[in-house]
Amino acid sequence: MKIILLGPPGAGKGTQAKQISTKYNIPHISTGDIFRKNISEKTELGVKAQSYIDKGLLVPDELTIDIIKDRLDNEDCKNGFLLDGFPRTVKQAEALELFLNQKGDKIDYVLLVKVPESSILERMTGRRVCLKCGASYHIKFNPPKVLGKCDACNSDIIQRKDDSEETVKERIDVYNKQTEPLIEYYDDKKIMHSVDGTQDIEVVFKSISDILGDN
Ligand code: AP5
Ligand code: MG
Ligand code: ZN
Repeated sequence: MKIILLGPPGAGKGTQAKQISTKYNIPHISTGDIFRKNISEKTELGVKAQSYIDKGLLVPDELTIDIIKDRLDNEDCKNGFLLDGFPRTVKQAEALELFLNQKGDKIDYVLLVKVPESSILERMTGRRVCLKCGASYHIKFNPPKVLGKCDACNSDIIQRKDDSEETVKERIDVYNKQTEPLIEYYDDKKIMHSVDGTQDIEVVFKSISDILGDN
């Protein structure tokens, strides 16, 4: 199964991705997590990406597209994958489509997680993340079992630098201008399904499972 998770910052893409990846046994590929790992390891890519991410802007397509192509060529993507945070521009979507077409492949599902702007700020400012495994928590809506520690891998959880109020507002603006056109792009291809992301985490997951089925 080849799936794209689409939705504004804080929609719950990462939260749902962890559960989908486990249930359907497909790798969870988050461009945001890949960039953050590179930033923490101070790689050349990390240094380049950080200047954009800290401002809430998109990392240029040229950098992002090649990373995804490399990742999708890995053996573990043969039977499917779950893309979280990619594509984010029409140019990225076209590059992905061409790349898959050349292998005789295509995306099966695009899941649009819908959350109004009014909920996003509270979700983002209360979010804590694990830099090691990418798990997301929320101090109120989804707290970890042990304060400050990741349930999955016991590493420290931290607040993302781009989760400040000012940067979140910029990210929402960038989403509206650069990513929202993808809704029409995928709607035209008749592979898009909308999910109400304002429901409880488990209810959102149930809605997604109903769309994807049991296999
Ligand atoms: P990225 O890491 O992808 O950030 P994002 O898209 O802004 O999305 P988030 O990770 O902030 O939100 P999410 O939907 O995953 O929500 P989560 O599950 O954590 O990208 C970061 C940056 O990297 C970008 O700004 C850009 O610079 C760069 N980048 C990445 N990909 C790129 C690309 N393709 N091209 C160019 N640049 C790129 O949940 C949020 C919070 O809400 C959590 O606290 C969670 O616990 C809580 N929550 C989740 N679900 C619920 C629920 N149902 N009810 C209540 N609370 C909930
Ligand atoms: Mg995320
Ligand atoms: Zn972890």
